[in-house]
Amino acid sequence: MKRFPQKRVFITGAGSGFGRALALEFAAKGWRIGVSDIDENRAKETLDLVKQSGGKGIVILCDVTKIEDLEKAAQTLEQSWGGVDVVVNNAGVAGAGYIEKISETQWDWILDLNLKSVIYGCRVFVPMLEKQGGGHIINMASSAGIASLPEMSCYNVTKAAVISLSETLRIELGPKNIGVTVVAPTFFHSNLMEKFQSTDERQKNMANTFFARSGATAKDVAAHALKCMEKDKLYAICQLDGKFIWRMKRLFPEIYFNTIRFFYKNRLFDRIMGN
Ligand SMILES: NC(=O)c1ccc[n+]([C@@H]2O[C@H](COP(=O)([O-])OP(=O)(O)OC[C@H]3O[C@@H](n4cnc5c(N)ncnc54)[C@H](O)[C@@H]3O)[C@@H](O)[C@H]2O)c1
Repeated sequence: MKRFPQKRVFITGAGSGFGRALALEFAAKGWRIGVSDIDENRAKETLDLVKQSGGKGIVILCDVTKIEDLEKAAQTLEQSWGGVDVVVNNAGVAGAGYIEKISETQWDWILDLNLKSVIYGCRVFVPMLEKQGGGHIINMASSAGIASLPEMSCYNVTKAAVISLSETLRIELGPKNIGVTVVAPTFFHSNLMEKFQSTDERQKNMANTFFARSGATAKDVAAHALKCMEKDKLYAICQLDGKFIWRMKRLFPEIYFNTIRFFYKNRLFDRIMGN
């Protein structure tokens, strides 16, 4: 943390779930938080919680699908605090569906929210971080981008792309003294199902069951992500199932995919999940 004596962080999607939990983790360490969300009430609630836990911050309303909103957010941070040290591209949604049924509208929705928003966040803030002599970017992906589970292509694609973007920038931004961490959790409790879009009720039921069975909280994932950022690690994979999937796929890709295909073909996921 000595890297960032001014302790200024900007978090998108900070009105709920991981973003809110991360804001509170930073607040507990004395950071100033740019609490950003599309939902004003939730962002204000987060700021109240930040203040209650002894932190400081400002609400910055921003729709991450609009690059001009992110540019305005950067200007606000520059005017209010002279800049920002850590940028967290977190806001996102979840979706699922059979490949032949996912509409173009659903693809555009999820690509804009989960991928283009992260690209925009990096494009807008890298020049500011570079001008300041360095900084750190935390991008929110998901283990979905590694696991490639069936009937989730639209979500998996966005998260795999965020991992790839983060890996690329990890190298590309190194000479600019900008670190990059990509967070890849499996399921944890949040409000992510509120905007969930799927082609069938079956996928929604399955996702709800995964969430209900998750033992992880947003706080667990946020605390781990912050530690990874402090250590300047590229990957923040917090949960044991996520670590297992990550290693299996890297070390034994054919076995991994054949096993998942066997489970899917024999409807074993449905049986395990009781659907
Ligand atoms: N919850 C999980 O199990 C899980 C697992 C892996 C990855 N993730 C990822 O974590 C991130 C955060 O999700 P969460 O689980 O905390 O969900 P959440 O729904 O609790 O929080 C998401 C926040 O993003 C905000 N948001 C939505 N659209 C926005 C927009 N256009 N502009 C700005 N803000 C917007 C929402 O208002 C909300 O406050 C997402 O990118 C999600 O894909 C979640």
